[in-house]
Amino acid sequence: MDIEALKQTAQAMVASGKGILAMDESHPTCAKRFEKLGIPTTEEKRQEYRDMLLTGEGIENYIAAAILFDETIRQKMLSGISFTEHLHNLGIIPGIKVDAGAKPLAGFPGETVTEGLDGLRDRLSEYYELGARFAKWRAVYTISDKTPSDAANMANAHALARYAALCQEANIVPIVEPEVLINGDHTIEQSFIATQSAQKLVFNQLREQGVALEGIVLKPSMVTSGLDAAEKAGVEEVAKRTIECLLSTVPAEVPGIAFLSGGQTDEEASAHLSAMNSLGKELPWNVTFSYGRALQQAAMSAWNGNPDNVEAARKVAVHRARMNGLASLGQYTPDLEQQAA
Ligand code: G3H
Repeated sequence: MDIEALKQTAQAMVASGKGILAMDESHPTCAKRFEKLGIPTTEEKRQEYRDMLLTGEGIENYIAAAILFDETIRQKMLSGISFTEHLHNLGIIPGIKVDAGAKPLAGFPGETVTEGLDGLRDRLSEYYELGARFAKWRAVYTISDKTPSDAANMANAHALARYAALCQEANIVPIVEPEVLINGDHTIEQSFIATQSAQKLVFNQLREQGVALEGIVLKPSMVTSGLDAAEKAGVEEVAKRTIECLLSTVPAEVPGIAFLSGGQTDEEASAHLSAMNSLGKELPWNVTFSYGRALQQAAMSAWNGNPDNVEAARKVAVHRARMNGLASLGQYTPDLEQQAA
């Protein structure tokens, strides 16, 4: 394990003013989003779409790293060069989703444990050869009266730590992603408690299994009210509670925290991130984004599968990346939404 290389990569992934583009949707997830817009779910369309996301002018000013899916890391851009070569040319670090998805946890109805550890060592070494310098593994937690259970917390923390240790052995920076789902009618307090206990256990397991914390990136969910909550916490409260939670769980050695957007609107995701970065607190880690939907959904709608819309869609993608780049510096304001990219 080359700890210096891991540290350098992790720091570069969360470089100031930039964040991570999560474009690693599995085939079923991508199909769901394409189908909503009537876009054919073919390999060619996924290639065209992801090519569009990465060819907007200046995208590299806001995006430090991109998470790819297995198909994409082996695919060529429309120009004929590979996606990874294109990313290298732009100075964007290529990464790869390596988990095999959240599967039902036996004995705990409604809860999941993320699978994918079997054969992971070999897959990581192949991905390194293909150009990946970081990886992603997503654990999922659901808030209800009875969940997350201790069993789900432990199973997921253990798997995340096993994954992270294998990544570092292969000189690949692990993105450690414990996502507490926004779905439900829970209060922000319930979200705080669930998020804090999941993160505590994750760091406990990472330490137990010898993971070098200076060579990881944490990808958490924000502490928010549930989507169907009767009362919704405002932007300032989300920012304060999220940072309070992270300060209580994330050691200072961790170079960066890159949030998922998890079903927030584009504007909410930018506003929350910006508010966290303008609380006036000295934070030990860089706090940025690793958004999927909040970077992509507007661009996907603008594209709509039609080659004539590519240029307009690229502008939308760059605009969202720029809004979130500004948010990572605490400089996003809603009136900036009016500006074209
Ligand atoms: O694992 C989840 C994705 O990488 C982030 O997606 O921002 O749409 O939640 P999201």
